[in-house]
Amino acid sequence: MVKVCGLTLISSFVLATFAIHVSRPSEAFAIRVPTAYRRTLSGKRVAADRRLTRIKLGEALYFDRRLSVDATVSCATCHDPAAAFASKDTVAIGAGNQIGTRNAPTVLNAVFSQSYFWDGRVDTLEEQAKQPLLNLKEMGMKTDAALVSRVSSISEYRINFHRVFPREGITLDTIARAIAAYERTLISRNSPFDRFIAGDKKAITEIQENGWNLFKGKARCIECHAFSASSPFFTDYKFYNTGVAGKGKSIESLTRAAEQLTATGANGADTTSLAHQDEFTDLGRFLVTRQSRDIGAFKTPTLRDIELTGPYMHNGSFKTLLDVVRFYNQGGEKNPNLDQKMRPLNLTDEEMSNIVEFLRTLTSDDVLRMTQTATPQSRIVSRMPLKR
Ligand code: HEC
Ligand code: HEC
Repeated sequence: MVKVCGLTLISSFVLATFAIHVSRPSEAFAIRVPTAYRRTLSGKRVAADRRLTRIKLGEALYFDRRLSVDATVSCATCHDPAAAFASKDTVAIGAGNQIGTRNAPTVLNAVFSQSYFWDGRVDTLEEQAKQPLLNLKEMGMKTDAALVSRVSSISEYRINFHRVFPREGITLDTIARAIAAYERTLISRNSPFDRFIAGDKKAITEIQENGWNLFKGKARCIECHAFSASSPFFTDYKFYNTGVAGKGKSIESLTRAAEQLTATGANGADTTSLAHQDEFTDLGRFLVTRQSRDIGAFKTPTLRDIELTGPYMHNGSFKTLLDVVRFYNQGGEKNPNLDQKMRPLNLTDEEMSNIVEFLRTLTSDDVLRMTQTATPQSRIVSRMPLKR
């Protein structure tokens, strides 16, 4: 319950503590717990202990490399607690060191997302989880049956699935449901910015506050990285062409790829498989909608914990936050489909660095502590021999 009310508790705590020297924040700035919070964590009246067991089971699966074809890669390999549940690799590296096409986003706060993947091709965490398990470039299980048989070969899972899913047992569906239950507990809050917005004016520096004013003013970041009391995640969950897709690639090749898909009537072609092919991946949202205005458009990502989740953008093409802000300052990268919101911003060097300083206020104290204490997955020697 404490978790469920986390954001509210933090704001009232901060108010109580700092009431003496802060002015009362307006009603609009009292962060309300988004409805999804209540629905997903407490709304489903599954018997509490059963629910907890499901989360524990999901956690075990999330960190278990035996779920990949050669037992080298787990969800946590690419969404690593030591990297704020994202990855330091430019693009994902899967089983057999196969190189993917996109950068792994954080799964923190994914529970609040309205669609998943950079192109939003699935709507639920359950459907999302099935894709990497069965993707040959990620965890590499060839079929549902191969995955189920692998999980069934491990006695602790036979026992635990029987307890958590007594009727269904081990299936692709129940594996995905358990993992999703665990992911719903991965929530990031409690950042200096949260304390600031709840009324503690001293929680961030003057420079950072300047950056926040630029973020919602002159730099207009907030037009896409939306922030409100009921959706405090710095994203509108919509799709935009910022020109990242066109960067370093010819626009012509992108347009040709789109024409090829349209001409061959490949509307039924598997979006997931196209997203994993170098020639097509940068088409982004177009792969889902097949609307030409969506060529090169990608989902606005959250900016919470952004300091910890580089490299940035769907293709990991920017190393630092300053690189990203410079990119916006020049109005993104020109291409026929560039979103109208992308325009040169005329920010000074000082203003750009203020925005970067502001972005650092979005780092949760808890997540920061976790990245400092967790052992990176890459350094953990597998202690999980395949059992038969
Ligand atoms: C080999 C690296 C890799 C592995 C293993 C992997 N992922 Fe991912 N994950 C990615 C990449 C890359 C993306 C973005 C792909 C895209 O947009 O097409 C992603 C996207 C996601 C997203 C969507 C986030 C968002 O905001 O849209 C979630 C949630 C997620 N992964 C969870 C998982 C889970 C659960 C597992 C284990 C079953 C897993 N991932 C295994 C690399 C990986
Ligand atoms: C037109 C909408 C839009 C505006 C305006 C915008 N962004 Fe973005 N932002 C996006 C989208 C979409 C992406 C992902 C683009 C991609 O990967 O192709 C993104 C990515 C980012 C990332 C990388 C996140 C990650 O996890 O990789 C950062 C940081 C960022 N934006 C900060 C800002 C800042 C700071 C501003 C203002 C200077 C800003 N954005 C303005 C839509 C926008």
